Amino acid sequence: MTVTSAILLVGGMGTRMQPLTLTTPKPMLPLLGKPITEHQIMKAKEAGITEIVLATSYLSEIFIPYFGNGEKFGIKISYAVEESALGTGGAIRNAAAHLQGGGPVMIFNGDVLSNHSLTDQIAFHQSQSADVTLYLTQVPDARAFGVVEMEGDLIKTFNEKMETPPTNIINAGCYIFNRTVIDEIPEGHVVSVERETFPALLARNARVAGFIDNSYWLDVGNPGALLKATRDLIEASGHTMAQGKGSSVDPTAVVDQGSYIGAKATIRAGSQLHQCVIGEGASIGENVALTRTFVAAGSRIEPNTVAIDQFFGFSPE
Ligand code: GTP
Repeated sequence: MTVTSAILLVGGMGTRMQPLTLTTPKPMLPLLGKPITEHQIMKAKEAGITEIVLATSYLSEIFIPYFGNGEKFGIKISYAVEESALGTGGAIRNAAAHLQGGGPVMIFNGDVLSNHSLTDQIAFHQSQSADVTLYLTQVPDARAFGVVEMEGDLIKTFNEKMETPPTNIINAGCYIFNRTVIDEIPEGHVVSVERETFPALLARNARVAGFIDNSYWLDVGNPGALLKATRDLIEASGHTMAQGKGSSVDPTAVVDQGSYIGAKATIRAGSQLHQCVIGEGASIGENVALTRTFVAAGSRIEPNTVAIDQFFGFSPE
């Protein structure tokens, strides 16, 4: 049975991403002018997913006006809103009730960028007759992640964030769950898939398969990672900077190191922007020098401002 349904987990508080997440949920933060969630939706669509439920909680009201019923994106989108956050497992259980199809479900953490093939992950899930398949990747330092031990293609232990990880193979945040597994998650309770569901499945010898893929993967969990994601995407297209529609950069300004200039933003004479993300309609005055700095949509930066690793305009009113 092919996989045509997906759930995107987009309800977290994004505390590590503050102050960018004070008024925008992390998955809605723009990456080259489009929400991280939109990049994921388009990837899911390309792999044959036809319906997606966004599992929202924190700032849920920001998603609905942007994505609507999904018509604009050529995919059916609906929303499962948690009044109080249900955790990753509780969110999956809650969101699955909104899906029309009854087959296996692809589940995405809302803050992961990857080049792995969803189609290959689906084929692997089927060839393994798995109950659940996790996309895994290998990293030099696994301490901040969920780490697995494998036997062949099957996962034998799952250890969430530990000081001395037994391997460097980590949970890369994209799963396929058979419906029976989702139905076993208690309804209306706070449940973590990482801390509860995965260990419980392994304890009862369920078939939890590990799809290891070492192509590009990035956990966009903090501002530094968002700058890196922006730079990686720009450099992958052979450029050093990118501009949204209607933006203007004075010919004497230097904009490089994977900086993104939002639509309708203005960069004035003599300014230097290194690895910066400038929001839509922002205005950067003359002779400004910014490095690894975020400027919120619509903000004005006074001439001669110098800043490194700063955030302008992200505090709530
Ligand atoms: P931090 O607060 O910085 O840890 O970020 P986060 O809240 O996004 O948590 P984390 O990165 O661990 O979450 C992984 C993914 O699951 C993210 O895409 C979150 O949006 C999502 N998520 C985490 N908790 C919940 C929840 O309770 N409900 C829903 N719907 N999604 C969640």
